[in-house]
Amino acid sequence: MNDLDKLFEAARAVRERAYAPYSDFLVGAALRTPDGTVFTGCNVENASYPVSVCAEGGAVSAMVAAGYREIAEAVVIGDAALCTPCGMCRQRLKEFGMPELVVHVADLNGIRRSFTMDELLPAAFELEDKSNNRKD
Ligand code: THU
Repeated sequence: MNDLDKLFEAARAVRERAYAPYSDFLVGAALRTPDGTVFTGCNVENASYPVSVCAEGGAVSAMVAAGYREIAEAVVIGDAALCTPCGMCRQRLKEFGMPELVVHVADLNGIRRSFTMDELLPAAFELEDKSNNRKD
């Protein structure tokens, strides 16, 4: 299995653990860091709807908590024609995305489309000083 197949499988597997009783829309996300480590997240909804966390948010938090701060490749999977990351998650991914980050959008059968970060979030807001944002 190549790296992208593994990332797809990780996203597919974690999607099954999503907690989405309100929307009934399960999402999984898998991120690969430059050294090949994979982090995953699923959406976790809440009775107070805005408290819900997207799959990408969970995966980014897991990655940062483990001491990683760079995303080389990502897969997002949902049972929809095109489960692209929401606007807030595009900004989340941008924060840690390597310049060449590609976000693959998948349905249950496989990857449907692949986007560069710039395609997902053109003219993104960024602060220039990321000196505190990289591990030494
Ligand atoms: N959702 C994600 O977790 N990621 C996406 O990329 C799209 C949407 C979640 C949020 C909510 O729990 C459910 O999908 C329906 O919007």
